[in-house]
Amino acid sequence: MNTESRGALILGCASGIGAEGARILAADGWRLALLDIADGVHDVARDAGAAAYLVDAGDPDALADALATALGELGGVGAIWSNVGAQTAGTVETAAVADLDRCYALNLRAHFVVAQAAVPALRAAGGGSLLLTASNAGLFPDRELVTYSATKAATIAMAKLLARDHAGDRIRVNALCPGWVDTPFNTPAWQSYGGREQFLARVPDLVPIGRIADAAEVAGVACRLLGDDFAYMTGHALVLDGGELLT
Ligand SMILES: NC(=O)c1ccc[n+]([C@@H]2O[C@H](COP(=O)([O-])OP(=O)(O)OC[C@H]3O[C@@H](n4cnc5c(N)ncnc54)[C@H](O)[C@@H]3O)[C@@H](O)[C@H]2O)c1
Repeated sequence: MNTESRGALILGCASGIGAEGARILAADGWRLALLDIADGVHDVARDAGAAAYLVDAGDPDALADALATALGELGGVGAIWSNVGAQTAGTVETAAVADLDRCYALNLRAHFVVAQAAVPALRAAGGGSLLLTASNAGLFPDRELVTYSATKAATIAMAKLLARDHAGDRIRVNALCPGWVDTPFNTPAWQSYGGREQFLARVPDLVPIGRIADAAEVAGVACRLLGDDFAYMTGHALVLDGGELLT
């Protein structure tokens, strides 16, 4: 990868896995454009020496505009990580159509809009890596998470479809499939266990490795996927879930 293409864009990085990823990529010398709906992205960007852009990824037109601005100001780009997502809980009897719409908007449509910007930008750079954050919930029927699990399965399907269509452009597309990660994202899910501490007490029954993941360890793998270490891997759904899928 040449120096000019050592630019990376992350969508969904004011907290959690994406924020850790921004820190890792910055420490590794990447130039960064960071997009998020939350003001906290400015703090992450300041620490990473990056540019920050506020955008609601649920608004496709606003997202397309923000991506165009960010990619234009970044200059060359070699890696794009669409990490945004939403989780709504429930069965088909307890979840609302609005819950499905929210998951669709952030777990599939936003990635599609990112890919519409990413493919021409990465092709112009002579190739690169596009990473979509999915979930291990997209690979098994996660109980009482019908809206989340179904849309994360669609994220994985889309990563494979994009990989197939754009391998000839030297664009690699992969899906990152974490299991339980210790981030604010899980607050709604933990409430059904009575809170984070009560959930953690149940983890040995749920995760064979016996712990949930730290955001930085998941981000570390994602950042390796974005770079040249995995130059021959495309269309892959990489699972980091402490063995949860084995149960
Ligand atoms: N935490 C987990 O256990 C877990 C497990 C599997 C997959 N994931 C996936 O990892 C990704 C990151 O999650 P996380 O755990 O780091 O959560 P997080 O809540 O810490 O981070 C999500 C980021 O996305 C941003 N965001 C949310 N809605 C947005 C919107 N409409 N527009 C722009 N930005 C928006 C948030 O502000 C935040 O910075 C998500 O796609 C999630 O589905 C998380």
